[in-house]
Amino acid sequence: MSEEIRTSIHGQWSSRMTFILAATGSAVGLGNIWKFPYITGENGGGAFVIVYLLCIAAIGIPIMMAEVMLGRRGRQSPINTMAALAAEEGRPAAWSLLGWLGVVAGFLILSYYSVIAGWALSYVFRAASGMFEGATADGVNSIFSEFISSPESMLAWHTIFMVGTMIVVARGVKNGLERAVVYLMPSLFILLIVLVFYAMSTGYFLEGLRFLFYTDFSKLTPHSVLIAMGHAFFTLSLGMGAIMVYGSYLPKDTSIAKASIMIAVADTLVALLAGMVIFPIVFANNLEPAAGPGLIFQTLPIAFGQMEAGVLIGTLFFVLLVFAAWSSSISLIEPAVAWLVENHGLSRVSASVILGALTWFMGIGSMLSFNIWSDKTLFGMNFFNFLDFLTANIMLPLGGLFIAIFAGWMMKTDSSRKELNTHKKGYNFWLMLVRIVAPVAVMVVFLNVTGVINLD
Ligand code: PFF
Repeated sequence: MSEEIRTSIHGQWSSRMTFILAATGSAVGLGNIWKFPYITGENGGGAFVIVYLLCIAAIGIPIMMAEVMLGRRGRQSPINTMAALAAEEGRPAAWSLLGWLGVVAGFLILSYYSVIAGWALSYVFRAASGMFEGATADGVNSIFSEFISSPESMLAWHTIFMVGTMIVVARGVKNGLERAVVYLMPSLFILLIVLVFYAMSTGYFLEGLRFLFYTDFSKLTPHSVLIAMGHAFFTLSLGMGAIMVYGSYLPKDTSIAKASIMIAVADTLVALLAGMVIFPIVFANNLEPAAGPGLIFQTLPIAFGQMEAGVLIGTLFFVLLVFAAWSSSISLIEPAVAWLVENHGLSRVSASVILGALTWFMGIGSMLSFNIWSDKTLFGMNFFNFLDFLTANIMLPLGGLFIAIFAGWMMKTDSSRKELNTHKKGYNFWLMLVRIVAPVAVMVVFLNVTGVINLD
């Protein structure tokens, strides 16, 4: 098959810019605003942040380029793309298992992602009702504890979010995914900058910055290095085919390198801005940086309660957070939807409904782990923590490792060079990163954490 005639049956992005926005929409989400601050808090700040930034640059960007490149070359769902490219390169058909790993990871992530997005959704209404006006840290804390102790209301918000995701996915690439992201990402960015100004006014801004950037490597454990690396994959939506499937809708003439760098930079900026908003509020109110998954829900409302126009800004903030989560959640399920359409002849609508229902059901487990199942553990973690650990810290880096190996070692350099279409120096640098740096780094972190080798 000549590659010129290959286009995706699911459609194509209308321009390079819409691809960048959609991929940024996938990357920027709860991972940046909800997860990055709380795992930074739990892992001691500065040194953790540096490892995370290094992982973005040395592992994340090259693997993102590899994923987009594979997707654009294969032009199908990740499962079929991997099968087609393996055949084309004369490699075993088992490479399509990589697509399966991604489908399962996306399903598991979306199941708990939707629960947390449901929290954000319910906070839109709390903020709008003026509930946070003048609230103290204790007041905000008890609002949050009360909320997560009630499975019924959490279930309702999880359901609404899941239905919203399925509606966009069912409408398809152009009508659904593209339209949802064009205005929302820039608005979120602007609102975060407004909040950074508030954080500056707390008198604790420098303390917040110090926590984020002061590097004390003695605080770093092999476990926190694993979490930093896993988060680099999670936040850039890598290792599970989401970016690959978006790449499959990419027109031929786009520079993959430039687009990947822009996406990674935008994603990292949003996370760092979120950190610069949250930690000054944490310190100004004598709160605990290691408060866990509730961190932003226990800190930001204090700010909204104190600031000028806090009801409006708070409401807008949670609205945009929900949209950021929404544009990520659609990419979590897109690889599976595309596969069901390709291989089982289902319409996008039926594929979305079936997958949405399954994911919704799975989400109930995470939802209950914040209340009635909080003492039920798997490997010492509650169900939500277990799923998050398994997907972000094991499945995504593993997927990324194999993507790097396939793009770097299994594909002929002629094929990858042609698809990436960059100048020779840039190409060689990328090749060195996907062949050696990224795989070795992922393996060292894995081995170090299992205790097989110990770098301490
Ligand atoms: N990158 C998203 C976030 O940071 O919230 C989460 C995510 C989306 C992870 C899509 C993986 C993925 F494939």
